[in-house]
Amino acid sequence: MLPLALLVAAGLLLTNGSEAAPLEGPLQPLPKPPVIDDRRVELGRLLFNDPRMSANGSISCASCHKLDHAGADDKSLSLGVDGKPVEVNTPSVFNASLNFRQFWDGRAETLEDQAHTVVQSPTEMGGNWSTVVQRIAADPSYRKAFTDAYPDAVTQKNIQGALADYERTLLSTKSRFDQYLAGDTDILTTEEKYGYERFQNYGCIACHQGVNIGGNMFQKFGVLGDYFAARGNPTKADLGRFNVTGEEEDRNVFKVPSLRNVAVTAPYFHDGSEQTLEGAVAVMFKYQLGRIPSEEDTSLIVKFLKTLTGEWEGKPL
Ligand code: HEC
Ligand code: HEC
Repeated sequence: MLPLALLVAAGLLLTNGSEAAPLEGPLQPLPKPPVIDDRRVELGRLLFNDPRMSANGSISCASCHKLDHAGADDKSLSLGVDGKPVEVNTPSVFNASLNFRQFWDGRAETLEDQAHTVVQSPTEMGGNWSTVVQRIAADPSYRKAFTDAYPDAVTQKNIQGALADYERTLLSTKSRFDQYLAGDTDILTTEEKYGYERFQNYGCIACHQGVNIGGNMFQKFGVLGDYFAARGNPTKADLGRFNVTGEEEDRNVFKVPSLRNVAVTAPYFHDGSEQTLEGAVAVMFKYQLGRIPSEEDTSLIVKFLKTLTGEWEGKPL
């Protein structure tokens, strides 16, 4: 982890270098969708929506990652297979393929690893792979589709692969900000452009950067104040990356979340504690930057964040 001061400096340096081409700037446009065998993507879509993936057949991936709630959940904490809340807020599956790691604490390296974990997680789907593979292989239409798409038909690895391939296609395209980065500078209003400027100059961009406007580094939650003491009721999940590495410097450290579609993925933070975008931005100012912004700056930044909402299947998320 780089020291914050360095990152902020880097962010400011990058954004002040006005000669830098948009592609080399701190925020990059959404990439084109990868070319993947349609049959595998379709299998992944079916599995993603299939409650047979959970122990008692009560929930599918889509129960928590609601595609009509921008791939996230509208609850602070989703309900798992046993109807009890999970430990952390459900992030969006849209653009998750662009994150450098998966999960708030980054414990999964790939989407395939992530799928492996969630199926077995007692608080999420609560199942085991041999049962899942048996169930899927027992369905003639799945069996046929897997045989067509993979040389070795229904296997755990192929189920993980199909889910991951489907997720790789879940990119939210045509956000107004992406169109702006592509050169359509008139597409943002003056206020939205000021918002983008504030986002850079206050140093939000030191952490929320790259192609996913986040998702490419770990940072402490509470750099300039103790968020957890102020919130109360500390949980194990609050330890973040410390739970993975056991390193003292990783206490309360999380993957910086992507801000793509953030205007439509409330509630916010790993603890799902914040219901509004304005509130989330205020928390960031206080605990990550140690600043008290004017109401106007907060509102301009929120306007900018709203330009990050993309489309899926021709409709805004
Ligand atoms: C019970 C609700 C629930 C179900 C069901 C569920 N998820 Fe999740 N998902 C979560 C939560 C909560 C997290 C965050 C967990 C963490 O970070 O520790 C998450 C994280 C993820 C992530 C990582 C995103 C990121 O930005 O880090 C992906 C990808 C994902 N889930 C895909 C899936 C897939 C595929 C399935 C089905 C096989 C699935 N999920 C089923 C709740 C759920
Ligand atoms: C030092 C790094 C850092 C800086 C600077 C920073 N953030 Fe964050 N941001 C994070 C981390 C880490 C989280 C995740 C916190 C958690 O929930 O554990 C986060 C979460 C968020 C969220 C919630 C996203 C979600 O889906 O839950 C928003 C919105 C946000 N930041 C906006 C901003 C804005 C706007 C600024 C500038 C005013 C900013 N951030 C500055 C690191 C940073």
